[in-house]
Amino acid sequence: MSPRESQPGEIRANVTIDTTVPARAYDPMIFGGFLEHFDNQIYGGVFEPGSPLADGQGFRLDVIDALRELKTPIIRWPGGCFVDSYHWQNGVGENRQAHGDPRWGVIEPNTFGTHEFIELCKRLGAEPYICHNGLTDVQEMADWVEYCNATTGQLADMRKNNGQPEPFNVKYWSVGNERYDNAYVARVRDGAKAMKQVDPSILIACAGSQGGMRSLGSEVSPYLLETAGDYLDYISVHNYWLPRGHKLPRYDFLTAVTKSEWPEAYMTLVCESLDKAGQRGRLGIAFDEWNLRAWQHPGFPRDEVEDYEAPGIRELVDRRMRENNLASQYTMADALFSASFLNACLRHSDDVTIANIAPLVNTRGPLFVHPEGIVRRTHFHTMAMYANLLKERVANVEVMAEVLTLGESSVAAIDAIATVDDSGKNWAIALVNRHPVNSVVCTLKMGEMLLDGSHKATLLTGESPDSYNDIEYPDRVAPKETELIFRTGSVNLLPHSLTIALVEAV
Ligand code: AHR
Repeated sequence: MSPRESQPGEIRANVTIDTTVPARAYDPMIFGGFLEHFDNQIYGGVFEPGSPLADGQGFRLDVIDALRELKTPIIRWPGGCFVDSYHWQNGVGENRQAHGDPRWGVIEPNTFGTHEFIELCKRLGAEPYICHNGLTDVQEMADWVEYCNATTGQLADMRKNNGQPEPFNVKYWSVGNERYDNAYVARVRDGAKAMKQVDPSILIACAGSQGGMRSLGSEVSPYLLETAGDYLDYISVHNYWLPRGHKLPRYDFLTAVTKSEWPEAYMTLVCESLDKAGQRGRLGIAFDEWNLRAWQHPGFPRDEVEDYEAPGIRELVDRRMRENNLASQYTMADALFSASFLNACLRHSDDVTIANIAPLVNTRGPLFVHPEGIVRRTHFHTMAMYANLLKERVANVEVMAEVLTLGESSVAAIDAIATVDDSGKNWAIALVNRHPVNSVVCTLKMGEMLLDGSHKATLLTGESPDSYNDIEYPDRVAPKETELIFRTGSVNLLPHSLTIALVEAV
């Protein structure tokens, strides 16, 4: 059925929750975020000294309050490609040294460094997750761990002199970003060994696989797993499913939502390569960069920039900001794709134990920050609904639904996930209707029981599949409390919507 040709009519789906198998606990770290030093993610995003909206330390209080709504459990920082030129020593102490970052074509002032990052995490109740420069020497990697976590010694003294007597106790680390060559593999092994010698309690990830936009993505290299696997705790995986460099303003809704099942297929591929290497179950998957849309950065990343003030460079950087920040791109497609991504993580919760939306703030992120305030984009609401409404355990669910097709692409019209609390009584069931224009009549069974009656629910939808929020209309798309009425199992799901229903089992 092609929704472009479909007439308004009845579409049906069946969702059956398996109540015979106990629901499994999942790791809430899948609701994490990523912050990288480019454009206005850090400066003019979370940190803006001098802004009337910032406190004396430079933190944007409106941004912090909004991020608290996401209950962000873990933040990966400082990059991304940015780490390739990052040396942590420049970002601590009184005399901060600015440096040029050729990857993104900007001068990094280093006023936001390790201490500021940890302070941000503390205010949000998030675990810091630090990504090392993967090109630097092993000593620099071990030193950063020592600076953060040691109680005694020269680097602990340095930290104390910089105003932090207690260790930061950073538990999550990663060696390098998106590097896969043999020299990198050796550095991962040696770096991980050296870092764990400093603090054996830390958990370490390294770049393991990158997804594709037209193919699923790469397997994790057997050479990496053989050489360094035993020193690691996570394999880091990245993907964005809509290519950059596409003509603006945006992809249409169906092109975007027909990508919704790709993350799960990619997760399966990565699990298979861990399986083959005998590392599945020992190594977790940290999907530490994900988003529907790849970031627009024409002309970047690059290896060298001669003059950061050259008009050509400035124009590319300005264009990047303009293109990523264009509000009308972030529609119900982003909200529903993000729900599908999180559903896939939940279904793979034995393997995927960390995920970070990339980025958290500005460019493609769920929270848009500007000098006078913030805008919660559509996918912000998905993330907030998942983090706040879902219960602690995830059950198996079978979905049978019609398929939406677009050219060679297709996707089930409905996706669903069911979570339950430890008592086994209180359920939160997320139902995604990907159809752009049609409601779906969905029959929901909990085991053999057809759900009946009225249940509290939160609904996210927009007037059209292309609805978006912007500075002028920040709440065009916002969650609404509602009652969901089931009649002998059947419920009506609105077009292009996400509904989370709260159900008490009898
Ligand atoms: O576009 C942002 C970049 O995307 C990140 O720096 C990198 O890790 C990823 O390829």
